[in-house]
Amino acid sequence: MQPSPRFPVNSDRLTRELAHLAAISEAEPPIVTRVVFSQADLRARAYVQQLCAEAGLTLRHDAVGNTFARWQGTHPHLAPVATGSHIDAIPNAGAYDGTVGVLGALEAIRALQLSGFQPARPIELVLFTSEEPTRFGIGCLGSRLMGGVLSPDQASALRDPDDRSLDSLRAAAGFSGPLETVRLAPGHFHAFVELHIEQGKTLERDRLDIGVVTAIAAPASLWVTVHGEGGHAGAMLMPDRHDALAAAAELILALEGAALATTAIDSVATVGLCEVFPGAVNSVPSRVRFSMDVRDTDATRRDRILEEFDVAARHVATARSVRITQETVNADPPALCDPAIVAAVESSAIEAGLKSQRMVSRAYHDSLFVARIAPVAMIFIPCRNGVSHRPDEYASPESIAAGVQTLAATLWKLSA
Ligand code: GLV
Ligand code: MN
Ligand code: MN
Repeated sequence: MQPSPRFPVNSDRLTRELAHLAAISEAEPPIVTRVVFSQADLRARAYVQQLCAEAGLTLRHDAVGNTFARWQGTHPHLAPVATGSHIDAIPNAGAYDGTVGVLGALEAIRALQLSGFQPARPIELVLFTSEEPTRFGIGCLGSRLMGGVLSPDQASALRDPDDRSLDSLRAAAGFSGPLETVRLAPGHFHAFVELHIEQGKTLERDRLDIGVVTAIAAPASLWVTVHGEGGHAGAMLMPDRHDALAAAAELILALEGAALATTAIDSVATVGLCEVFPGAVNSVPSRVRFSMDVRDTDATRRDRILEEFDVAARHVATARSVRITQETVNADPPALCDPAIVAAVESSAIEAGLKSQRMVSRAYHDSLFVARIAPVAMIFIPCRNGVSHRPDEYASPESIAAGVQTLAATLWKLSA
């Protein structure tokens, strides 16, 4: 294969578009909060679709709102080369998570168009619905359905914290039809490449431009409920208590201990949500429900953390006479990136004069589930101090342009 040429990436335009998208938020700038199917999400989708239409791409969406913008190839019946990411954002997030992979992919396509290139295969930009678990409690909703990892029945049973169903919310957002149709057959895409900020410090620390992702870590997500006994904060004596929050505190520390005990840098465990019932300063908590997010590049090691947590839960239940229940939301295996696409990304970075390194993704991404139906790879770019899921998340225009250049060259190779 010939080395890729340099493509005319318009960094100023992309910077403006990312800033415009960031301003479409449910919170005051610089905070980005864009929960799936909120007014902000719908306005952001409309903005991205307008830009795609201006670039001459043909738009369609599926029943869950995954949106496809296609640049037709000279051989339109060949399986497309796909790229994309998400634009939904967790509460109190920043401007770059996901959006760089959507608007950056659009800029890569525009740069390819401007260069005079005519792809043989169609190139398709995919905007995935609800990569973030904020509303429905499960991450990568759109790509899970696409990859056949979540069944239509499981998806239809999803409800948001206000008890509104996925089906009613997607219909209100303009996405109807059976969820069965979201699933794509293996081979539907020739390849899928996702551009994303690293969300870690490796690239910045090692002064690298591009991370060539070879594998995506295995995420698990659970809900734990502790059933204790409530009562009056003044009158209920300490020896009589079965405080659900005190028990939960022990469990949370046990989880942290189990993740630390592997001594592997890739083992991580987080409790990010904790609901206390009845939630009054002068009431002993009778029930606590908390989330657990546990990840590792090694699924066996991740499962060992969960097993150790089980042991701790049994111990706490006995010692404190509380009842502890667990509900697994998802426990996904890791995904390996495709060696040929990894090589294409790597050579593209080298040909653009960029410094790159192979690495694993500790965060999950839609690529984890697209990998069930297509060969995938990911392109990481540095973000300041490794910060993500925070309003001060930042990737420089130069880093983003380097990622887009690498993506454009990779699409050029894969679609020729
Ligand atoms: C994605 O947002 C993740 O939590 O990894
Ligand atoms: Mn995210
Ligand atoms: Mn993301």
